[in-house]
Amino acid sequence: MKTLITALAIVTLLITGSAYASEDDGKADKKGILVVSFGTSMPEAKKAIDNLVDSTKKAFPDTEVRLAYTSNIIRRKIMKEQNVNIPTPALALAQMNDEGFTHVYVMPMHIIPGEEFDDIQSLAGGMASVEGKYGFKELKLGSPYLSSVQDCDVMADILLQRFSKDLADKKTVVVLMGHGTPEHIANALYSQLQLSLDKKMPGRFVVGTVEAAPTIDDVIARLKHSKDAKKIVLSPLMIVAGDHANNDLADKEDPESWFSMLKAAGYKDIKTFLVGLGEDATMARVYVSKIKEMMK
Ligand code: CO
Repeated sequence: MKTLITALAIVTLLITGSAYASEDDGKADKKGILVVSFGTSMPEAKKAIDNLVDSTKKAFPDTEVRLAYTSNIIRRKIMKEQNVNIPTPALALAQMNDEGFTHVYVMPMHIIPGEEFDDIQSLAGGMASVEGKYGFKELKLGSPYLSSVQDCDVMADILLQRFSKDLADKKTVVVLMGHGTPEHIANALYSQLQLSLDKKMPGRFVVGTVEAAPTIDDVIARLKHSKDAKKIVLSPLMIVAGDHANNDLADKEDPESWFSMLKAAGYKDIKTFLVGLGEDATMARVYVSKIKEMMK
């Protein structure tokens, strides 16, 4: 019975399909940019997201810019606590379709094309293949910050600039905490970034991740190779300095935080710099240039 109904529906669709498809024909092009972040529930940390959103708005004054969050936990939390409703990428795209957008450019705020990016890519790919009334004339997806060897070199330059004052002291090593995506090949980009940093400034940066490899043990092992590493600057390699930065990285009370683990490993002089990369002006410029590239 179910098969029959489905078959009938398909036949009906085939007969009437062209009528639906032509309903919106001739409508003017309407372009939109959808920026996608994991999200944060911390107002202080949200400045990083806002900076990337505002920079995008400034760069494309005639194009509507919308924001979506991938984390349902965070979406529900800010709905409850702040009465702010931020859609998922799926909801945002459906809404934009409903409002007559014809060309949509989806830009993730993610550092690596890991698990989260796969989900966004699957959604964008699925939506891009929809034709007729519920589809877009064009739907494109931009690439995360670290998507190629060249991207790693660009990021290394940004980091050199960002920590230039700290690096002026030859005894200082900058330890960066990326998020990491376990059992995903994109996680190797953190090691590629390490190569780029070592090429530009050998031994002055150590890259690790909170969820995958390199682990904090790998970070400490690498630090031990450097006799000059006396002072450490700890900072997140994430767009937003939220939960991971404040707890997993910098919590002095937590014996398992990176701060405590490095203390236990004998490093006495540890400074933390808990500012999301999204607040960095150069990061915003690179973000905008990646959107421009996609819209070409
Ligand atoms: Co996480």
